[in-house]
Amino acid sequence: MNTKTFIEKQVEEIRRTVGGGRAISALSGGVDSSACTVLAHRALGNQLKVIFIDDGLMRRDEPQDVRKIFAKLGIDVGIVDLADEFFAALAGKIDPEEKRKAFRYTFYKAFGREVVKSKAKFLVQGTIAADIIETKGGIKTQHNILEQIGIDPEKGFGFKVVEPLKELFKPDVRKVAEALGLPEKIFKRMPFPGPALATRVLGEVTPERVAIVRTATVIVEEEIAPLKPFQAFAVLMNDMGTGVEGGRRKFGHVIVIRSVESKDAMTAEATPVPWDILTKMAKRIVTEIPEVTRVAYELTPKPPATIEYI
Ligand code: XMP
Repeated sequence: MNTKTFIEKQVEEIRRTVGGGRAISALSGGVDSSACTVLAHRALGNQLKVIFIDDGLMRRDEPQDVRKIFAKLGIDVGIVDLADEFFAALAGKIDPEEKRKAFRYTFYKAFGREVVKSKAKFLVQGTIAADIIETKGGIKTQHNILEQIGIDPEKGFGFKVVEPLKELFKPDVRKVAEALGLPEKIFKRMPFPGPALATRVLGEVTPERVAIVRTATVIVEEEIAPLKPFQAFAVLMNDMGTGVEGGRRKFGHVIVIRSVESKDAMTAEATPVPWDILTKMAKRIVTEIPEVTRVAYELTPKPPATIEYI
């Protein structure tokens, strides 16, 4: 792929599609939505409003960090705090697909409101080829797939979607992001799913349970960083494990560490993590999160597992 030609073509295409109107860019800070936001900003300037929805499911400090990175590029990011709305939508849901659908509905309803507020007609989003293939193939409902599975975003939510990256796979998206001047922190960033930490909490997604997985994620990301895995994270299981503390039984949460190597997320292998890093992560997790009594490392490749747990 010729990155420069791709960028020029997409900038032109976004301008042609949006015309003299307004558009909103759905930014999460991942490489896909970041590249997409810079492309759209190049094409539209102040006809574009960039919005980061804080769904309460993000990693530690993520909304503020993303805003700072974009401020350096001269792009203003509006953060909309909707944590209560997302937790209300997810309350009581334990089925993985139900959780994904509740997330998607809440996400697009929120953007629908923002689009109306800004008198925009278009939502620019960073859908990539793998998202479409997996959702169409019935593997899982990626949060950002609408038209491709027969949902009309205009009828359902009041906007048209613009997806400049939909034909690219991750490695090419990273090249585009670098060529657009995004910092290495973004163009080399691990993939992070749209439904965020909700994909890493088995069972009910509550603020308390998300807080546990959020702290565990910080520990996993810090300790595994030298290995530069394709993707690494923590997952909270849906049952308690027995532990012992001060000679007494203690029931606690179970955290699974997942780290994978992959090119395009379509297939993946578990990272061969050295033993000392594994044991350090386990010790830190049970020490820094006293509600956790057990930590395991996941070995399953994709297929038959997927990368995320839901
Ligand atoms: P799975 O779990 O299907 O994930 O093996 C493949 C890649 O996609 C990411 N992922 C998502 N990304 N919205 C996204 O934007 C989603 O709903 C979603 N679900 C999974 C996952 O993190 C992995 O990199």
